[in-house]
Amino acid sequence: MCGIIGYVGNQEVAPIIVDCLKKLEYRGYDSAGLTVLNGKIETYKTVGKIKELEKILPKDLKGNIGIGHTRWATHGVPSTINSHPHNSGDISVVHNGIIENYLPIKERLQQEGYDFVSDTDTEVIAHLLHSKLYGSVDSKSKISSFIEALRSTLKEIEGSYAITTVCSSEPGMMLAARKDSPLIIGIGDNEYYAASDVTAFLSHTKDVVFVDDLNLVMIRPEGAEFFDLDGNVLKKEKTTIDWDIEAAEKAGYEHFMLKEIHEQATSVHDTFSGKLSELDGSVNLEELKMSNEEIRNIERIEIIACGTSLNAGLVGKYLFENVAGIHTDVDIGSEFRYSNPIMDENTLSIAITQSGETADTLAAIRSCRSYDCNTIAITNVVGSSITRDANSVIYTRAGPEIGVAATKTFTAQLVTLYLLAIRFARARGMIDVNEAKDLLVNLKRVPGQIQTILNHRDTIRECAEMFAKERDYFFVGRHLNYPIALEGALKLKEISYIHAEGFAGGELKHGPLALIDDGTPVVAIATKGHVYEKILSNIKEIKAREARVIAVANEDDREIEKYVDWVLRVPATNELLSPLLSTVVLQLLAYYTALARGCSIDKPKNLAKSVTVE
Ligand code: G6P
Repeated sequence: MCGIIGYVGNQEVAPIIVDCLKKLEYRGYDSAGLTVLNGKIETYKTVGKIKELEKILPKDLKGNIGIGHTRWATHGVPSTINSHPHNSGDISVVHNGIIENYLPIKERLQQEGYDFVSDTDTEVIAHLLHSKLYGSVDSKSKISSFIEALRSTLKEIEGSYAITTVCSSEPGMMLAARKDSPLIIGIGDNEYYAASDVTAFLSHTKDVVFVDDLNLVMIRPEGAEFFDLDGNVLKKEKTTIDWDIEAAEKAGYEHFMLKEIHEQATSVHDTFSGKLSELDGSVNLEELKMSNEEIRNIERIEIIACGTSLNAGLVGKYLFENVAGIHTDVDIGSEFRYSNPIMDENTLSIAITQSGETADTLAAIRSCRSYDCNTIAITNVVGSSITRDANSVIYTRAGPEIGVAATKTFTAQLVTLYLLAIRFARARGMIDVNEAKDLLVNLKRVPGQIQTILNHRDTIRECAEMFAKERDYFFVGRHLNYPIALEGALKLKEISYIHAEGFAGGELKHGPLALIDDGTPVVAIATKGHVYEKILSNIKEIKAREARVIAVANEDDREIEKYVDWVLRVPATNELLSPLLSTVVLQLLAYYTALARGCSIDKPKNLAKSVTVE
C-alpha cells in the first residue's frame, strides 16, 4: 500500500505535493519522490520519510503540474532506485498497486531495448507507456496521443493500480487511472488533485469525484474529463465530503482497527495475487529460495513466532502436516531462544513476524544458524531486520498496520502459509493437481466471502453489545479452529480487557469446565468439517453448565440453532480455508465489544505494536 498524488493548477506544485505526501505518509514511508513538469520532467526521490525528500528539493523548483509518491515496498527493497516516480524518456509515473504480469512484459521490453534500472513492477508501466506513445525506445515522434497510449497500456497490464502520470511533450496535462486501488479527484479553485485517498488534499478542497475501476482521467487546468477504457466520455457527480483529516486517515472509520479489518478483502487478495495458477494447481513463489529437492528433503518444520503471529504459526502446523505431510512444531520466540532444539540441515525454520522486528523472534531465528538449517521469514515490512536473517523472505502484502492489535497482517500470514503448504505438497507429491486446484479456486473466493461477513457486521455488533459487560469469555475450537479460538481470545483481551481464554474443545473436561457456569459467554467455532460433530458435543457439554454459547457457523447450518444462543455466520468454503473467514468474525466481535466498553482500541494499555526488546 503506497500513497500517490498528482496536482494540476496555478500554484507552485512542489510544496503542494510535499504537503499532500505528508498527509499520506501513514500509507507507507520507506521512500518518497516527486516529478515536476516544467518543459521537461524533473524527478527527485530518496529513501526515508517525506522530510528527507524536502531536504533534496531545489529551492527554485518551478512548475504547476506534478506527481508524487510515498512508498511501502512490495517489489524490491526500499532504495532510491526503487522509489517512485519511475521514468521512461519524457514520461514519469507513480503507482499504487501490484502489476501481476510485469515479468513477461519486462522481458519483452528489455528485448526491445528498454533499460530497466529498478526491481519494481511499476517501471514496466513507464516503459510500456513510452513504447505505446513513441513506438520504440529511440523514437522521438509520437505514434498516438498520450491518453491513447495510456489506454492501450492499461489494456495490457493485469493486477491492481492507481496511477498518475505526466509527459513533457504533453505539457498542460496529467493523466490518472485506477483498477482495484482507490483514486479520488479533488476539485479546487481552478486546480485539481488526484490521490489514493482524500486525506492527501483535504486541507485544500472537500469537493471530490470518486474514480471507478477501469476509468481514466485527463486533467488540464481547464478541467477534468473522465473516460472508460474504450475512450467513451463518462459523466461524473461531484461529492462534498465532511471528514476532518483524522477521520479521513481512517477512511471514515472510527478506528484504524476497524479500517484494517475492512481492508482484509483487499490484503488477502494482494497477498496471493500473481502467485496462483488454477490451471495446473501450482503456486509460484519466486521468493522461496529452495529447490524441489530441498523441499523433498525437509524432515521437520520449526515455526517460531510471538503473539498473533504465533497463532498464525499454529494454523500453519495443521496445514504443513495435513496438506504437505511434514511434521511441524511451533515455538514461542522467547522460549525457543533458550531451548536446546533438535535440528539439523533437514529442518526448515519459519519465522513469522509482521513487523520483522520482534526481538525474541529475531534472536530465535538467529540461533537456528548454528544448526545449518534452511530458514524462511514471513513478514509485512520490506527491509526489516528479519529479512537479513533468513535464506528466503516472503512478504505479506497487507500494507502498514497502525492498530496495535494485528488483524489484516494475521490473515495475510495465513494466506502465505497456505501458499507455502500447497507449494511443498506439490513438490513432495502429497496432493494431486485437482486437490490443489480446488484449494486455489476456493482461496480466490475468500476476498469476496470476507466482504460478505463485513456486510453483515451489524449482527456481530449486536451480539458483542449483548455480552460487553461480562468479566470472562471463553473460546473453543478443534483442529484448525483451535488456533482461531486462541486468536479470538487474544483479540478480545488485548482491546477490551475482558479476561478471555481459548481452549481446544477436547480439553474442556480437563479443567476449563470448572470455570464455566450460569451465563458465561463461550464462543464455539463450529464451521463444517471432519470435527463438526465433536464440537457439537462440546457445545452440549457447555450448555449443560448453563453457559451462553455464541457459535461461528456456516450460513446453511440450521442444526446449530438448536443448541446455541447466538449464531454468527460465515460462508462455506474448503474446511482448510475456514480460519480465514472465522477470524474476521472474531476480530469484529472483539472490536465491537471494546467499542461498547469505551476502550482505547487502537492503542490498548500496556501493549506495543512491535516489541523490539526482550
Ligand atoms: C506485539 C503486538 C502483537 C503482535 C506481536 C508479534 O505483541 O502487539 O499484535 O502479534 O507483537 O509481533 P510481530 O511483529 O512479530 O508479528
